[in-house]
Amino acid sequence: VSLSVSNSGGNATSPYMYGIMFEDINQSGDGGLYAELIRNRAFQNGTLDSWSAVGRSTLTLDTSTPLSAALPHSVKVTSGKGRAGLKNPGYWGIDVKKTDKYSGSFYSYGAYNGSFTASLVSDITNETLAITKIKSKSVADAWTEHKFELLPSKSAANSNNSFVLEFRPCRPTELKFNLISLFPPTYKNRPNGMRRELMEKLKDLNPSFLRIPGGNNLEGNYAGNYWNWSTTLGPLTERPGRMGVWTYPNTDGLGLVEYMHWAEDLDVEVVLAVAAGLYLNGEVVPQAELGIFVQDALNELEFLMGDVSTPYGALRAKLGYPKPWKIKFVEVGNEDNLWGGLDSYKSYRLQMFYDAIKAKYPDIFIFSSTDEFIYKESGRDYHKYTRPDYFVAQYGKFDNWSAGSPIIVGEYATVQNNTGKLEDTDWDAPKNQWSNWIGSVAEAVFLLGTERNGDRVWGTTFAPLLQNLNSYQWAPDLISFTADPADTTVSVSYPILKLFSDNRITHTLPTKAIGSNSSSSNSLYWVAGRGGSPHDSSYILKAAVYNSTSGADVPLRVTFEGLKRGARAQLTVLTADEGAWAHNTPASKDAVRTTVKSLTAGEGGQIEFSLPDLSVAVLVAEFS
Ligand code: AHR
Repeated sequence: VSLSVSNSGGNATSPYMYGIMFEDINQSGDGGLYAELIRNRAFQNGTLDSWSAVGRSTLTLDTSTPLSAALPHSVKVTSGKGRAGLKNPGYWGIDVKKTDKYSGSFYSYGAYNGSFTASLVSDITNETLAITKIKSKSVADAWTEHKFELLPSKSAANSNNSFVLEFRPCRPTELKFNLISLFPPTYKNRPNGMRRELMEKLKDLNPSFLRIPGGNNLEGNYAGNYWNWSTTLGPLTERPGRMGVWTYPNTDGLGLVEYMHWAEDLDVEVVLAVAAGLYLNGEVVPQAELGIFVQDALNELEFLMGDVSTPYGALRAKLGYPKPWKIKFVEVGNEDNLWGGLDSYKSYRLQMFYDAIKAKYPDIFIFSSTDEFIYKESGRDYHKYTRPDYFVAQYGKFDNWSAGSPIIVGEYATVQNNTGKLEDTDWDAPKNQWSNWIGSVAEAVFLLGTERNGDRVWGTTFAPLLQNLNSYQWAPDLISFTADPADTTVSVSYPILKLFSDNRITHTLPTKAIGSNSSSSNSLYWVAGRGGSPHDSSYILKAAVYNSTSGADVPLRVTFEGLKRGARAQLTVLTADEGAWAHNTPASKDAVRTTVKSLTAGEGGQIEFSLPDLSVAVLVAEFS
């Protein structure tokens, strides 16, 4: 194939083309990115799940003396003779490293003069890995906070470890405990922060935006069950948590402020999704009652951006964050075309949010949560979970897009295999466990289609982002993990996203396949453009080969207009030795091979190379 790339024309590309989307699904927040190690630390779902008694003590759930209005349940430990206390195995284990300092705290209620012991122990060998004594400050009739640090004397062999909190009363005693918390060092040492190696994986993706907080988890299963920003703020004692839609309780320790810190730490813009009055059971907030939700979204924006003289700006300052954040993008709801929500979204819901937000914040860009309906100048959100061939067939989708408003591809992934016919997802059939290479290459083709239209497509984000392999509701995912950082595994889609995101284009350049007007040729798909930082003096060609004829390599001759003979270029090609079904697992993480070649432009600035079937490539050619 001969490609001829002009050095003028084309369209400006959105600077936000690659981002990430997060909701608490697959224990991706609690038990995942949010670094808290203790599961069910504050009994927020009204159970003693994950806790067991130590020695001869017994545990009962207690509501007689709430720690706070938000945390009404606590655990009562009734001692027998000798050691008493409680044990927690974390979120399917606790990683213990000698090099790390673990910061803990708990509240106790009841008279006790002795000492508490906090420790990390191996569940396999019972070996104590870290231990500390904490002088009791516990008194009758009041809750008292205790803080401690654990410094392991050795690293655990694996993550089969538990946290133990003990006391040794002289006589039978009842003590109550709540908010029993333990954190390892966090990313950038944020208090109440995030797990380091998962954040590093996200940073490595070089994202430009973070779409939060969902997904279905924003919407809620039934009236009142939506993600409510105002109950995710402040001291952990003030956060009630809620039952998330993905069948497990959310502590809301990872709340709105933590999301903003996350965005700061990754240096990305936030696309803030606000609950828009649609629940997953099909209930819709009637027009007469929606004003409360609209006002709540305005309050949220004032909390984030308002001057400290405003009521919610003052609340932010009181919580310790006087400096306002900046929100440039808001999405109204999530998938409001589903669950019977479209009619009300069209007739009043989007409009009410849009008009109110724009009246107060004219500079905020507002996305509709569906591609099926916009209001005034709103953008759209297109979600696609499908099969490889179906994605490839969408390469031209945005070329033919006449709707006019910028579109975020707020969620996409290949979730099932081809059937031999061009079929979309069958939601009654199982989804794949892992992203397979053929699906990831198909996603790449789809992404090339979005980049070709970087003036129309505002940004894209794979979903779901994260998966705890011990408990998840949705596969495949971009990054899988367990309590043991050694298990963290990126899917075969990840290196493609990184390659594309690391090699941004600032605007597309018209490209002709010589002898053809088509935008794809012999299963070769592409986009060409001017490089953005750090490739400002380069032309970039991104390409993918999907199902070439007889699986043959595709020879390419690329001519960038004005490129001189001798100009240097670098070609990066991603392939998978195992072919279409190659995938990564914790046991085998390197299914994708990266080959980097230096090339030199020949006569007329032509660069020649060939790409194998099922490959994804980026060519960066320096023009100065
Ligand atoms: O990503 C999983 C789910 O898929 C999201 O919660 C929802 O928005 C979509 O339907």
